[in-house]
Amino acid sequence: MKYTVGLIYGDGIGPEIVREAKKVLDAAASKYGFELDYERLLLGGESIDACGLPLTDETIAKAKKCDAVLMGSIGGDAKVSPWYKLEPSKRPEAGLLKIRKELNLFANLRPAYLYNELKDACPLKEEIKGNGFNIIIVRELTGGLYFGERHTDVIDGVRTAVDTLKYDENEIRRIAIKAFDTAMKRNKKVTSVDKANVLDSSRLWREVVNEVSKDYPDVTVEHMLVDNCAMQLVMNPGQFDVILTENMFGDILSDEASMITGSIGMLSSASLNDTKFGLYEPSHGSAPDIAGKELANPIATILSAAMMLRYSLDLDNAADAVEAAVQQVLKEGYRTTDIYSEGMHKVTTTQMGDLIAERI
Ligand code: IPM
Ligand code: MG
Repeated sequence: MKYTVGLIYGDGIGPEIVREAKKVLDAAASKYGFELDYERLLLGGESIDACGLPLTDETIAKAKKCDAVLMGSIGGDAKVSPWYKLEPSKRPEAGLLKIRKELNLFANLRPAYLYNELKDACPLKEEIKGNGFNIIIVRELTGGLYFGERHTDVIDGVRTAVDTLKYDENEIRRIAIKAFDTAMKRNKKVTSVDKANVLDSSRLWREVVNEVSKDYPDVTVEHMLVDNCAMQLVMNPGQFDVILTENMFGDILSDEASMITGSIGMLSSASLNDTKFGLYEPSHGSAPDIAGKELANPIATILSAAMMLRYSLDLDNAADAVEAAVQQVLKEGYRTTDIYSEGMHKVTTTQMGDLIAERI
């Protein structure tokens, strides 16, 4: 079988982590007998430099022809990068939001899993870590505050900014279905997170989630306010299986969930629409401060590539092999700087990619 995979190298550490993930994908392809054709796509800062826009129609059209897209990271250091002198709609992040919208990638899946081998890197107390945790955040990705109407005006001499948080029932229903379907393949629990004590959009969210839950009698559903959820994540992370939430809450909670796994450098993500297509990217950013220094951890991107094999290409055996290879390398004590601890072998970005590829 032959598949076309779009590759977005992006900015900062993007190129080096995508290079390593590609290495691992190629190893999986030759072991499991499938072929990958890569199509280079430009997004974010590299696209601004090449064509003056963070996302062009050409990139969108090319992405639509791919079976899946694997991406590194986009964006630069806002204090020094010229990209941030451009108006907000022309900055790197605008390209990312636009590609999510254009490809209708409404479902963002972000696993947060505590590896046994990395238990020491988890900042939580021993009694809170307990037997570890295995959470997946299902974040709505194409609605809410990110895409609502916004404007800044001067009203009677006072600078005033408005952002709008809007959801309709169809947007809520389709992401809720994704969360319940995901829970059916896991521990059958959905925690839906909202701010229903304040927001109308959250009250509708709760209603629709309850309606959807009727079709999933085997799944336990619970509702949690977002502030409480932020607290519960550091008090008792073991209680969660699937966390379902809207765009902005999901953005914030997924960074928190990643931190308690020890390193944001480990966390993959998938952004899916209602076909097999997906955009796969690490949950972390472009870390321009360490770009090109062989310090970046490529594991989040490699695990994102594994998600791509599983969700978009239906190559479960190859996906299992990639995940097992990551686990094996950790077991053998190899660590990039971000997850390094006393007594382990410190390796570079390239070495980590090589070690994982060799173990496929
Ligand atoms: C993420 C990032 C993006 C987001 C930024 C870069 C726009 O933080 O993917 O979580 O807020 O969605
Ligand atoms: Mg974020």
